[in-house]
Amino acid sequence: MDPYAYHVLVCVGGFCSPDQKGRELYRMLPSLLQREGLLFGPDRVKRGETPCLGVCSGGPIVVVYPDGVWYGGVTPALLERIVVEHLRGGRVVDEAVFHRI
Ligand code: FES
Repeated sequence: MDPYAYHVLVCVGGFCSPDQKGRELYRMLPSLLQREGLLFGPDRVKRGETPCLGVCSGGPIVVVYPDGVWYGGVTPALLERIVVEHLRGGRVVDEAVFHRI
């Protein structure tokens, strides 16, 4: 498998976000990553959806590895900031972080 810079997991479950807004976020990811040049090459970002991350409140939740940064209450606008500032720029969006490994 080719290397990648980050792995992003989006919770699409119905407990942390009862309206399942994580699904909308996950659908948005490919076009945001493509726009920012993060779908191919050494800076590419691998993405995945998960039914639960074991937190089950304060979602939607988005996790970025290898940084071990957990974002909560992610809106479409915040997801765009995560892609631009964190995944492309390497700067964590600190005000949206609720947990770090
Ligand atoms: S349903 Fe999202 S963390 Fe459990």
